[in-house]
Amino acid sequence: MSPQIDLATHIELSAAQLPQADPCTLAIFGASGDLTRRKLLPALFHLACEGCMAGQFQIVGIGRQTMSDNAFREHLREGVAHSAEIKKFSESEWQGFAPRIRYLAGDFAEPETHARLASLLDTLPDARNRLYYLATAPSAAPVIIKGLADAGLNREEQGWSRIVIEKPFGRDLASAQALNKTVAEAFSEKQVYRIDHYLGKETVQNILFFRFGNALFEPVWNRNHVSHVEITAAEPLGVGHRAGYYEESGALRDMVANHLMQLLALTAMEAPVAFDADAVRDKKIEVWRSIRPMTPEEVASRTVRAQYAAGESDGEAVPGWLEEAGVPAESRTDTYAALEFRIDNWRWAGVPFYLRTGKRLARQVTEIAVHFHHPPLSLFPNAEAVQSNVIALRIQPDEGISLAFGAKQPGTARRAVPVSMDFCYRNAFGEHPPSAYAALLLDAMRGDATLFTRRDGVEAQWRLITPIEDAWAAQADGALPVYAAGTEGPAEADDLLARNGHRWRAIAGNLGACNV
Ligand code: BG6
Repeated sequence: MSPQIDLATHIELSAAQLPQADPCTLAIFGASGDLTRRKLLPALFHLACEGCMAGQFQIVGIGRQTMSDNAFREHLREGVAHSAEIKKFSESEWQGFAPRIRYLAGDFAEPETHARLASLLDTLPDARNRLYYLATAPSAAPVIIKGLADAGLNREEQGWSRIVIEKPFGRDLASAQALNKTVAEAFSEKQVYRIDHYLGKETVQNILFFRFGNALFEPVWNRNHVSHVEITAAEPLGVGHRAGYYEESGALRDMVANHLMQLLALTAMEAPVAFDADAVRDKKIEVWRSIRPMTPEEVASRTVRAQYAAGESDGEAVPGWLEEAGVPAESRTDTYAALEFRIDNWRWAGVPFYLRTGKRLARQVTEIAVHFHHPPLSLFPNAEAVQSNVIALRIQPDEGISLAFGAKQPGTARRAVPVSMDFCYRNAFGEHPPSAYAALLLDAMRGDATLFTRRDGVEAQWRLITPIEDAWAAQADGALPVYAAGTEGPAEADDLLARNGHRWRAIAGNLGACNV
């Protein structure tokens, strides 16, 4: 029997308050990769320490490299011990957890690998429920899915079988449809969990609580009151050792096609009839369907792509995208993307939704800023100096929500000045929101698909992104616009908003709700 984990030092909630995973075994394909070590295992270790894993849970890692169980455990230990998501790594808890991890070496394309996995699962205690996690390169997904089905591992005679599929889910509409077809031949939709880790973030989940758990905001959440919406995911880092993947992907596919589309849907959707998987996902899909795919002319006028040039990040000189190791000299990959969507429904007609994301920008900021109309008439002399009201939902870092408004400056001048009301997660709930992967893995092990993307959802997202990628690909060759690393992005992105009389919120000085 495996040693028990000492939970005493970690539990902050009573056991009765903690959601529990169903008893199950996890089989992770792509076990020696970065995602497994940096995200999945820290999340599972965290869940185990919090008492959320049930009974005899076991983890089987499957990878190409040959490795012993112990070597695999040691490789993972490093990632877990240094993970930002583990508050305090405890060796004794790890010693209780590690024996539950096993390694299976094999080629994913070989039927024999899947047959050996099936035999191994049959020998494990309490392994009737099975969660398969595809933490592999996207190209490996079809062979793994077919291999699982051929080995009968998709069947649910003894317990449940579920499959979690990582992004990117395809690279355009046609490939996403083909992958969905392959998945559907092996698994029913209720067995499939397409993961977008943004949906596991506390602050992202809070968007619906903010909107639909309060009576105050929803009456003004529409075109009568909202002038425009900005959704930003700015990152200061470059692509590190992921240049190969990123060269094929680019910012639009990597971030907009999934994470930013989800933020857009949560901001714009109607209230669901219930907080359950299909009701929520139906409403999100309605948003994507209400956006008309862009024509090539609209792509030219409503989108911007760019690449970072050499500059500074955190006070250090950094190379431009074209100088990064492994990037072809003629690369036309977007490291920055900005665009304007219009949602053609009664709530949002006429309201621009601006989305932007990029690598090597001034600092990390992920936020949704809802800008309200100016007052119809101004009684105060310097009203133009006060920005219109803005509700900023800060996803990360400095997680929180702020409402900017004008107030009277003390004194006799009768001047209005901008001030802000702030809610800061850290002050209200403590330092560490739980990791997105922990939340999503737990949901998958409990059978709650609310925070996962449904088949029609992923296709609805690509229906909007693919025409942009196609129009970009058809544009004349030559260098893309550039922005210096460590800055606010390309000037072309400013022009995108300026034609509507709008301006992006600053990235550099944007301090979030906890630091104003
Ligand atoms: C991933 C992208 O999905 O999200 C990365 O592939 C990006 O390029 C990352 O850096 C951002 O996630 P987070 O949680 O750090 O905002």
